[in-house]
Amino acid sequence: MSLGSRSCFWRSAILILRLLDLRSRVLASGASEWTYTGDHGEDHWESTYPECGNHQQSPIDFHTGIFEYDPTLEPIQLLGYNLSAAENFSLINDGHAVKMGLPPTMQMICASHRYTAVQLHLHWGSETETLGSEHTISGRHYPSELHIVHYNSEKYGDISTAQDKADGLAVLGILIEIGSFNAAYEQIFSHLTEIQFKGKEIKMPGFNINDLLPRELDEYFRYNGSLTTPPCYPSVLWTVFRKPVQISREQLSELQKDLYFSRMDETNQTEMVNNYRHVQKLWEREVFISFHEDTRNAEHKLAFGVILTIALGCLLCVMVASALTVFFLRKRADKTTENNGVTYKLATNKEDELSQA
Ligand SMILES: *[C@@H]1O[C@H](CO)[C@@H](O)[C@H](O)[C@H]1NC(C)=O
Ligand SMILES: *[C@@H]1O[C@H](CO)[C@@H](O)[C@H](O)[C@H]1NC(C)=O
Ligand SMILES: *[C@@H]1O[C@H](CO)[C@@H](O)[C@H](O)[C@H]1NC(C)=O
Ligand SMILES: *[C@@H]1O[C@H](CO)[C@@H](O)[C@H](O)[C@H]1NC(C)=O
Repeated sequence: MSLGSRSCFWRSAILILRLLDLRSRVLASGASEWTYTGDHGEDHWESTYPECGNHQQSPIDFHTGIFEYDPTLEPIQLLGYNLSAAENFSLINDGHAVKMGLPPTMQMICASHRYTAVQLHLHWGSETETLGSEHTISGRHYPSELHIVHYNSEKYGDISTAQDKADGLAVLGILIEIGSFNAAYEQIFSHLTEIQFKGKEIKMPGFNINDLLPRELDEYFRYNGSLTTPPCYPSVLWTVFRKPVQISREQLSELQKDLYFSRMDETNQTEMVNNYRHVQKLWEREVFISFHEDTRNAEHKLAFGVILTIALGCLLCVMVASALTVFFLRKRADKTTENNGVTYKLATNKEDELSQA
């Protein structure tokens, strides 16, 4: 072999290896479909995406007994969240949810690290089910949940590098309940009919993303978890705000009715509903809270109530017992007086008293 043909051989070999690598990466990254129900539903994610079966998964249920109050948890600081209406951002139906692309100027300081926003998306239920949020509080679902996804830009260059690293991502979770009309959410919802099918993408003007969040940025649940969709990387520092935001019933209905999981050309079109993952086991994890827990107070109150009830009960018993004792003693005394013929005397005394009055 001449020098030229040898280098040509190696170059081809490298090229083939690169192509193979690319192919396997494409397969791993999404060529394999996943869904929320059916043969590729969440119970089967694990077989294609092993991380989905591991011990640091999201979402979880937040309930008394798993919390630890952490006074060092500071309010989340948001930077550049007020997006300019003069700029356009992508809004896409990715076949799993509705997703809005966010600019790198949008950042947050969370646990004293800087994270850069990448996208936001929603999870929701269906008309027949009032479920829809991924995280739950004391077993209670909210009808929808917004996630704002950020990556650790102090350490990593972009989200694809960061997403499978233990300290790679930080996501804000916002629980959504039914209430009054929400103009900020409508900025997104008003475009849903333009992206009904999988793969549809439009440009929409920016707006103040702050308005999608609850006012109380200082009250939240904090824990280490994962992406709630395949590949379920356990790389997310979660911040789920305690207070929900409100959208109207009509707005929720738009979310439940306007979109499809399927492409426009598919024969069987499936409505995009119930695109939420069920809560996962906590295992050995800790959940920190930035606020003093009411429920714990409620428990204290409950304990106090029980003690008070028992005390009152005892007091009542003692009173009844004393009353009975007095009653019987008197009866006995009366009998004795009757027997002794003193009854008269008592009556006379009473009459005397009356006449004196
Ligand atoms: C957001 O930015 C717009 C201009 O781009 C400004 O008019 C508006 O007052 C800002 N809102 C807040 C809450 O800062
Ligand atoms: C934003 O999108 C609208 C509608 O598609 C278009 O008319 C406008 O020129 C776009 N603006 C920018 C800054 O790209
Ligand atoms: C998350 O995990 C990291 C690394 O194990 C740990 O330092 C950190 O305290 C954990 N944070 C929470 C909120 O559990
Ligand atoms: C469409 O859905 C129906 C009912 O769910 C099913 O019987 C049929 O096989 C599906 N067709 C295709 C092409 O998937």
